[in-house]
Amino acid sequence: MADTLALDGGTKTVEEGMVKSWPPHDERDRQAIMDVFDSDVFHGNSAPHAVEMQEKWAEYCGCEYALVTNSGTSALHMAVAGAGVLPGDEVITSAFSFWASAAAILHHCAIPVFVDIDPVYYTIDPALIEDAITERTTAIMPVHIHGMPANLGPILDIAEKHNLKVIHDACQAHGATCDGDRLGGIEFTTGFSTNRSKNLSSGEGGIFTTDDDDAYEHARRMREFGEVVPPSGEQREYNAFGLGWNYRPHEFVNAFMLSQFERLPENNAKRQEFARFLTEQLAEIPGVEGPPEPPWGEPVYFTYVVEFRPDQLDLDCTAGEMKQACVKALAAEGVGMGQWQSRPIPGQDVFLEKEGFGRGVPWVLNDDVEYDYSGEDYPLTVEFIAAHSYLRGVYPPNDMALMERYVDGFRKVMANIDRVMELANESDE
Ligand SMILES: Cc1ncc(COP(=O)(O)O)c(C=O)c1O
Repeated sequence: MADTLALDGGTKTVEEGMVKSWPPHDERDRQAIMDVFDSDVFHGNSAPHAVEMQEKWAEYCGCEYALVTNSGTSALHMAVAGAGVLPGDEVITSAFSFWASAAAILHHCAIPVFVDIDPVYYTIDPALIEDAITERTTAIMPVHIHGMPANLGPILDIAEKHNLKVIHDACQAHGATCDGDRLGGIEFTTGFSTNRSKNLSSGEGGIFTTDDDDAYEHARRMREFGEVVPPSGEQREYNAFGLGWNYRPHEFVNAFMLSQFERLPENNAKRQEFARFLTEQLAEIPGVEGPPEPPWGEPVYFTYVVEFRPDQLDLDCTAGEMKQACVKALAAEGVGMGQWQSRPIPGQDVFLEKEGFGRGVPWVLNDDVEYDYSGEDYPLTVEFIAAHSYLRGVYPPNDMALMERYVDGFRKVMANIDRVMELANESDE
């Protein structure tokens, strides 16, 4: 029964209970959180875990300043504002991301302008950026999606040529490098998320980084109501210098983040080991492919994406149809795969309807420009979403034994592809 599909009653390739969840946590994390109770310091910008996390993160990224926040979205919003983006400015970003990237631009009443992706590395295609620049453009926001660093060399050149700032969405790319530099330490501002699933996880949370004194000051005020809030114990002026939010993190979360941070390098190394193994093995199985590594940097594999290639098996169907059939067969084998985005960000209703703050804000700020969004204008993003699926569990505490089972599962499903497609067609009827 070893070669019989689980869908046909064969033995499941990956046993129940073999896939462990992220993030791995243990007594060290428990102790870190108990230390907060013991310290009696539960909040504030000078709380010890906040300060230590900021210092360690700045050192790790190779930058001057880091600020812990309560989410990746708030860190990114601070990165947008810290880069000097103003209402009505256009910010160029990738059509392929979680929409919080674009939301962070809208939160500052600026206007996202989308660019399609490089189909191989699924990050913003630098070759398409210059065509999207207008007199209103003030920044470019590459999204280092799925742990894949965007091709920053040409992006930084374009930014310099047109006097634009670069705002990095590194929410999914803690520790990734580009041309030898770690994200967070590359100009101008960066936002990280430490939400539950991320390479650095604290349940919820975020971190802003920059090298620039003014960007730091701006972001610091923004994090606390627009005020300059001194360390606890010193008298606060209670005077807002401008609009701010409450983007402060919780000290319990800071403690968890700090404790998890100690294991980030080893966890990232495991993700890389698993991903490289899978990509090497999948290359030997016609019908599926893993992601390649770019010549310009080192990815950290926040997620592991698999491409379905009907052409490699002479199948008369689309990649999307093949994917749908295979994901079902793989699930039966215990190889869990999931869909992430369903469309390019500009194809979401918020952009189709320009439903931001209401009353057309922020788009009406440029009433001489007609902003028309459509997902179909980004065919490479559409194709990427259709042809790819996400393999669950490619992180510690899972191990190589699981990765080997995954490969066995792919091998089995691809070896039985005609039956897999037949079963899918039967269930459609
Ligand atoms: C690419 C990207 N940008 C921004 C965010 C927003 O981060 P958070 O959920 O922590 O606000 C996320 C988080 O899921 C993300 O994946």
